[in-house]
Amino acid sequence: MTTEVAPQEGVPGRVPDQVLRIEDLAVHFGGIKAVDGITLGLERGLISGILGPNGSGKSTLLGAVTRLTPLTRGSMHFEGRDFSGVQPEQVARLGIGRTFQTVRLLDDLTVHENVELGHDLIAGPRRWWRRVDSTERDAAEAAVRTALERTGLDGKEKLRPGQLSYGLQRRVEIARAIVMSPKLLLLDEPTAGMNRFEREEIGGLMSDLRSEGLTQLIVEHDVQMMVDVCDHLFAMNSGQLIASGSPADVVRDPAVREAYLGKQDNDDRDS
Ligand SMILES: Nc1ncnc2c1ncn2[C@@H]1O[C@H](COP(=O)(O)OP(=O)(O)O)[C@@H](O)[C@H]1O
Ligand SMILES: [Mg+2]
Repeated sequence: MTTEVAPQEGVPGRVPDQVLRIEDLAVHFGGIKAVDGITLGLERGLISGILGPNGSGKSTLLGAVTRLTPLTRGSMHFEGRDFSGVQPEQVARLGIGRTFQTVRLLDDLTVHENVELGHDLIAGPRRWWRRVDSTERDAAEAAVRTALERTGLDGKEKLRPGQLSYGLQRRVEIARAIVMSPKLLLLDEPTAGMNRFEREEIGGLMSDLRSEGLTQLIVEHDVQMMVDVCDHLFAMNSGQLIASGSPADVVRDPAVREAYLGKQDNDDRDS
């Protein structure tokens, strides 16, 4: 009997270098099995995506990885270290950054201050009570500036989030996450509510971050964008993984089509 390489192990013959490894992860809310036995790995430097209908457990999975959601069972390793037991506030310091499905910015603060908050999360609250030395302050300011530039927000730093378009608000969230120099960035529906142009811009930003070596996991409903941007796709349904592989293979998978793509098959009728 031959041993098959599970698709999430990556390309057969290549030793996977996985930043994140999840084994038999389950998150149940009472009788609701939001995540129910997921095993997957994220290869370093790649963009992985998760497709799945609403309610399939995608956000809960990201919530488990950022430790906001208690685990029912399973284990999670980041850079080889079991982090199933760490507190949510430690996750950023481990090197995991995220954006949320709905915009979560502080509207009393400027764009610059919102991004600075992300930096404070890793630099520690000491900045607020200790006499901050100027080297440290300069480094923080440089990190914030770089994050704003990379997300195309230069010139907008003095505005409040409420004065920005929805697309730009999402960029502020991405800036707040990357200012922490994460090793892994989780993006939950970063282009929801955006027009095609804004979506392509976010896709371009993800590709830029990838070329700088940032490993990313994205949850998104825009299948075309997922195929264009992702190196690897997972598909979920009812809390379980139903497919894992190259984007082209996953979107062609009959189980995925039935669970998710069926509603969007109109484009393919002529093929
Ligand atoms: N905090 C919670 N308490 C109870 N049920 C929840 C909670 N969070 C999510 N769920 C349920 O878990 C399932 C998966 O939700 P979610 O992870 O948000 O799915 P997705 O992001 O794929 O749309 C849904 O049935 C949802 O109602
Ligand atoms: Mg969700």
